[in-house]
Amino acid sequence: MFTNAAKCSKCGEIYPSNKILTVCTKCGGALLLQCNLALAAETISKKALKKRENTFWKFIEFLPLSSPESIISLCEPYTPVFRLPNSCDTTFKNVYLKDDGRLPTGTFKARGMAVAVSRLKELGVKRVAVPSAGNAAAALAAYGAKAGMEVYAFMPKDASENIVKECIYTGAKVYLVDGLINDAAEVVKRFKEKYGWFDASTNKQPYRFEGYKVMAFEIAEQFNWDPPDTIVFPTGGGEGIIGLWKGFKELIELEWTDKIPRFVVVQSSGCAPIVEAYEKNETEIKEAWKTAQTVASGLRVPKPYAGYLILRAIRETNGMAVAVDDKEIISSMKDFLRMGIYACPEASSTLSSLSKIENAGIVDPHGKILLYLTGNAMKYFDVLALKSEETPVLKKGADPLLTMGARIT
Ligand SMILES: Cc1ncc(COP(=O)(O)O)c(C=O)c1O
Ligand SMILES: [Zn+2]
Repeated sequence: MFTNAAKCSKCGEIYPSNKILTVCTKCGGALLLQCNLALAAETISKKALKKRENTFWKFIEFLPLSSPESIISLCEPYTPVFRLPNSCDTTFKNVYLKDDGRLPTGTFKARGMAVAVSRLKELGVKRVAVPSAGNAAAALAAYGAKAGMEVYAFMPKDASENIVKECIYTGAKVYLVDGLINDAAEVVKRFKEKYGWFDASTNKQPYRFEGYKVMAFEIAEQFNWDPPDTIVFPTGGGEGIIGLWKGFKELIELEWTDKIPRFVVVQSSGCAPIVEAYEKNETEIKEAWKTAQTVASGLRVPKPYAGYLILRAIRETNGMAVAVDDKEIISSMKDFLRMGIYACPEASSTLSSLSKIENAGIVDPHGKILLYLTGNAMKYFDVLALKSEETPVLKKGADPLLTMGARIT
């Protein structure tokens, strides 16, 4: 409500925020909206926030909408923070989880699209296109449907069938692209003018970051304004980590907290361009990852747009980037399920990363670590094997103990 400009994260160019924005027209850098924090803080205080209902929209003053009336909502809860059960084998003593699998459409992508769709509707946008591994498209499809927008989703042709169905049945027009998300992005780039689409690609517009910055506000409040020392975040295109970083920087400027957590980015070893660039101490991702393949489809981004910002967020928070392999991811997904925690493969990678973080030796084992669960396992049961011996068929009248595959003890 107090946002009046956007600034290029590369060259510093300023743009008025009452126009539809994409990327910097001078250098192609990602634009970041500028909220007048001093003015926002005059309207809402930490104390006053306590009296508000715990929903995603609690921090509306810091979001780029002209009015609360413009909110397009699918009922977004404040997502829960809870401790990792003690049964879990790790040397870290204070591990917490935040579960965004409870959001509409089952992933944290709802945050970005809730804000983007609300703002784009205010700006008069009617047709939106997005390249996506799946979950961003699903969130745009659902919020777009609620807003009465036309949504075009371009996904890799091996995208999850479940998520493709989710997009179609919420109302998006889906195209499967021969290639990966970068190829899907090329289609949107090439045809957006011809068909009058707003290009809602990851990091190519400033609105989605604003939804993710709310993660920082929620976390800070949930930890009583003393945020965790480390946040572990599964990263593909990077808008989540960039938004989280932006949120914490705003909280520091507001003097509502005095520390930014260390960011640990987790990727799959099947597609780890950020880890590679981090390890080489580079400031930009130079080349697309070849033969990108992982069960954590949201992490399959061979060359994120504005990779320099992701690397900056890691460096400036004294963070690190680690890769875990698909076997480890699936094993963590199963471990989580046995604890009653429904984490998708992307989210499960955070649990797999703990031993690697420990080996790096830079994270205090007694500090507070938050594993960010970005999505719900429900959407991904297709990645888990089903063995026939685990589903013995019981003939009519037969004793389960005497049936092949019996496991009654
Ligand atoms: C469930 C899930 N987690 C994590 C990510 C990675 O997010 P980002 O693209 O913001 O890095 C995605 C991306 O699609 C996702 O779907
Ligand atoms: Zn620029």
